[in-house]
Amino acid sequence: MVVGVMGAMPEEIEPILARLSDVRKHEIADNIYYTALYGSLDLVVAYSKIGKVFSSLTASTMIEKFGVQKMLFSGVAGAINPELKIGDLIAATKLCQHDLDITAFGHPYGYVPEGKVFVEANPKLLEIAAQVAYKQGIVLKRGVVATGDQFVADEARKEWIAQTFGADALEMEGAAVAVVCDALGIPFFILRAISDAADMDAGFDFDAFLHSSSAKSADFIFAMLDEIDQAQ
Ligand code: ADE
Repeated sequence: MVVGVMGAMPEEIEPILARLSDVRKHEIADNIYYTALYGSLDLVVAYSKIGKVFSSLTASTMIEKFGVQKMLFSGVAGAINPELKIGDLIAATKLCQHDLDITAFGHPYGYVPEGKVFVEANPKLLEIAAQVAYKQGIVLKRGVVATGDQFVADEARKEWIAQTFGADALEMEGAAVAVVCDALGIPFFILRAISDAADMDAGFDFDAFLHSSSAKSADFIFAMLDEIDQAQ
């Protein structure tokens, strides 16, 4: 089985690459894709660069050029739900684009004709994640993740996203990967470790916790890969 493991930033995939051996590099569409064997799995690993456009390109390339059959995303997010603290893990049950706005035409926020406001993550991968969390005694929260091409460091914007979408966390790629995988029929799972609270301290916290939170997310993704491998 070919499994894609994506991040947005180098820091998000470094802890993943560090655990792989005999990694091969492939340059496609102005990005680098890393392939390696992990147990019985063929892994394709890449960071997309930040934002919805780059992450859509990377997800599409992984699926169309490398034949990825399941997609896992590992990275960090800003917390909206006050129960989420720095370092906590959240698995997206469904994702939306908080910056998609054609309300001028009477449509709801996050919606364009022939699209949908929320894209749901794969229930089987969510179940595998729940099993991994249980086995490891880790608290894995589940919730709505809102994506947009904005680093949110503003209480009012955060509150608006919470009210409009019922979102628990926000980031800049998940919903884009979700839309691509949904359209191409590829099961996907988006995992985020909290790096900040999307408030006025967000920029400072993000820099301080990017590495440690990325590593937590990557560790969990590896445990999921073990589970997927053993189920083969
Ligand atoms: N990823 C991590 N923290 C974020 C924030 N505050 N806004 C957008 N994306 C993020």
